[in-house]
Amino acid sequence: MTPDTFPIRRIDHIRFYVGNARQSAFFYRHLFGFSVKQFHGLETGLKHEVDYLLEQGNIRFLFSAPVRPGHPIAEQLAIHGDHVQDVAFEVDDVDWSYNTAIARGATSAREPYTLSDVNGEVRLASIHTYGDTIHTFINRDNFKGTFLPRFVDRDEPGITTGLLEVDHCVGNVELGAMNKWVKWYEDVLGFTQLISFDDKDISTEYTALMSKVMSGGDGRVKFPINEPAEGKKKSQIDEYLEFFGGAGIQHVALRTDDIVATVTELRNRGLQFLRVPATYYEDLPNRVGKIDEDLAALQDLGVLVDRDDEGYLLQIFSKPITDRPTLFFEIIERKGAKSFGKGNFKALFEAIEREQEVRGTL
Ligand code: FE2
Repeated sequence: MTPDTFPIRRIDHIRFYVGNARQSAFFYRHLFGFSVKQFHGLETGLKHEVDYLLEQGNIRFLFSAPVRPGHPIAEQLAIHGDHVQDVAFEVDDVDWSYNTAIARGATSAREPYTLSDVNGEVRLASIHTYGDTIHTFINRDNFKGTFLPRFVDRDEPGITTGLLEVDHCVGNVELGAMNKWVKWYEDVLGFTQLISFDDKDISTEYTALMSKVMSGGDGRVKFPINEPAEGKKKSQIDEYLEFFGGAGIQHVALRTDDIVATVTELRNRGLQFLRVPATYYEDLPNRVGKIDEDLAALQDLGVLVDRDDEGYLLQIFSKPITDRPTLFFEIIERKGAKSFGKGNFKALFEAIEREQEVRGTL
């Protein structure tokens, strides 16, 4: 194991830029079961934007929207639509993290600054990664409040669906850019490459992609990076890049300890998932061997299973949650496996292609 040259405690929060944060908060509360914990906006003295903090398990989502024309968030929304703008890391020392990242070649998004109120202070700084996505470094060791200074509590509990933590965040980058960003995560943030998939692993009749999984923070942070590969028709990655307007976060995987219960609840509340054909389940016992779960229940929900040397995993992918075919969520349960479901890629991509076909973007 190589020494961790860039200490990261955890993914602190994921920030979304959205057109209407009030409605996003409602959606994520009632559909995914997040609790609305804090708010900062017009009512609390913020003049140009609103921020809603939602929480479930160890997952924190921040939804930010502009409330006046000409706001920088509005300009980003005009390009990308609702999207993940920031994957923020909690670190021991924000200034060291920022200065080290810049010295190692990162581009500054915001120099270190301090926010404070009666509860103390929080130190922050941000760097750019692919596309318009940023990583914010944050430390609140000297802060007694919940999230950030000047946010006020909102007591709007959600009914949990059993989501526990962010398992991984996947980025799509332009053709030929994957290795550049792999090297960036190695050089700047000291990440190591866990796995690599080429277009032979991940191809169907029509589409292909390549992917490398980068890991940092002593394995607590996992970032697969995809790029399109040449195929007969437009790949899902090309579709994403076109509709998103460049590189960005494609999906966020959320971990549960009971995928059958979680997905049953999410489906009952209206989240739509990608479906694979029934034949997928005919081959499954041969492919993955004995598993604890009832196969009929998995098939009913459309949950996929894959095995690696260390165990198995169960996973399912939502349809895009935005109008644009860009951002979606993965729900994942790990039974020992530390991989990402390579055995499911083909069935999954064929399912995505059926959706692309309907959208007329294949
Ligand atoms: Fe994933």
